[in-house]
Amino acid sequence: MSTPSILILPGDGIGPEVMAEVRKIIDWYGAKRDLGFDVSEDLVGGAAYDKHGVPLADETMEKAQQVDAVLLGAVGGPKYDDLDFSVKPERGLLRLRKEMDLFSNLRPAQCFDALADFSSLKKDVVAGLDIMIVRELTSGIYFGEPRGIIEEGNERVGINTQRYTESEIARVARSAFELARRRGNKVCSMEKANVMESGILWRDVVTEVHQAEYSDVELSHMYADAGAMQLCRWPKQFDVIVTDNLFGDLLSDAAAMLTGSLGMLPSASLGAPMANGRPKALYEPVHGSAPDIAGEGKANPIACILSFAMALRYSFDQGAEADRLEEAVEKVLADGVRTADLLGEEGVDPVSTSQMGDAVIAALDASI
Ligand code: NAD
Ligand code: IPM
Ligand code: MN
Repeated sequence: MSTPSILILPGDGIGPEVMAEVRKIIDWYGAKRDLGFDVSEDLVGGAAYDKHGVPLADETMEKAQQVDAVLLGAVGGPKYDDLDFSVKPERGLLRLRKEMDLFSNLRPAQCFDALADFSSLKKDVVAGLDIMIVRELTSGIYFGEPRGIIEEGNERVGINTQRYTESEIARVARSAFELARRRGNKVCSMEKANVMESGILWRDVVTEVHQAEYSDVELSHMYADAGAMQLCRWPKQFDVIVTDNLFGDLLSDAAAMLTGSLGMLPSASLGAPMANGRPKALYEPVHGSAPDIAGEGKANPIACILSFAMALRYSFDQGAEADRLEEAVEKVLADGVRTADLLGEEGVDPVSTSQMGDAVIAALDASI
């Protein structure tokens, strides 16, 4: 088998800072586990705009289509706030998702025992939490037409369209049911079928796919607003949540806080299987470029590190090595190592981004 290939797109703000720690881990796997990767690096977001005048060059898009996995840091930042909408950094990421057809975005929210006390929710609400949000990623209001800002009479009108086809809903539903079968065997589908036609179709199609192919999995439905409330009230009632692009964006940031920090939440964006049988894939932390702390060495690299663990599991068939990396993160947290976002107002001194990466490497060393 040829060496698996990875394209790294560090992006903007804290993206390059957290990605530097992932590079150390990739190198560790090559040196210590004989698991070499063919790694290349390129620009996305504001960094690509600065060089090419677009947030994603066509050559980079082509490379992304060819590799076994893309790892992305984060895009965006205040420097680019006034750019034309068509070349904003975020458009580079959206183009990757759309053209790679990464329709199933897995956002696992797991509360590590060592952080159960730190979460802003009560310990017994979050301790042991392990849920998976499956967010539809290539359609819905992010991409629907018509869209734009138009003049109407003497005022401007902003327009976005929520649009879902049956097949778009069915394929993300299947991916949620498949995951549930390997986990707690429960899916909760969230939409707003009470006020949106796309929500009515969503509920119908999820129900049809369930009846035809997955009746062994327990299915429930919830309006997304009530779902947000239930996520805060008693998140352990959920196993897999499947929802649309926009609701999934909001619900996953909320779920991040159940784990203690947005700096903890990884993600995998998966598409259809490639010739080698593995899905086309992009891995990225759920957080953004964090302009408020960028350049200070304060960012928590764990979300990005855990995203690489997901790559080991979903793209490289290395489930045991993914477990090893997740256990290394768990050990570091149990040892009390904390970046600033994982500390309260007082207490121990925080470690830097690179010290956190080094601690994970040390825990990996100790695991062999
Ligand atoms: P953000 O996620 O960048 O930051 C929100 C808050 O969380 C900030 O206080 C930040 O300091 C903190 N935070 C985030 N990641 C952290 C980490 N790893 N360690 C410690 N603290 C962390 O969201 P925002 O401020 O709303 O957006 C900033 C920019 O990022 C915007 O341009 C936005 O569009 C972009 N963004 C990009 C992505 C992505 O690339 N996938 C995701 C979300 C936002
Ligand atoms: C995310 C981000 C993105 C989104 C932006 C940067 C395009 O918030 O990945 O959660 O809205 O999907
Ligand atoms: Mn988001």
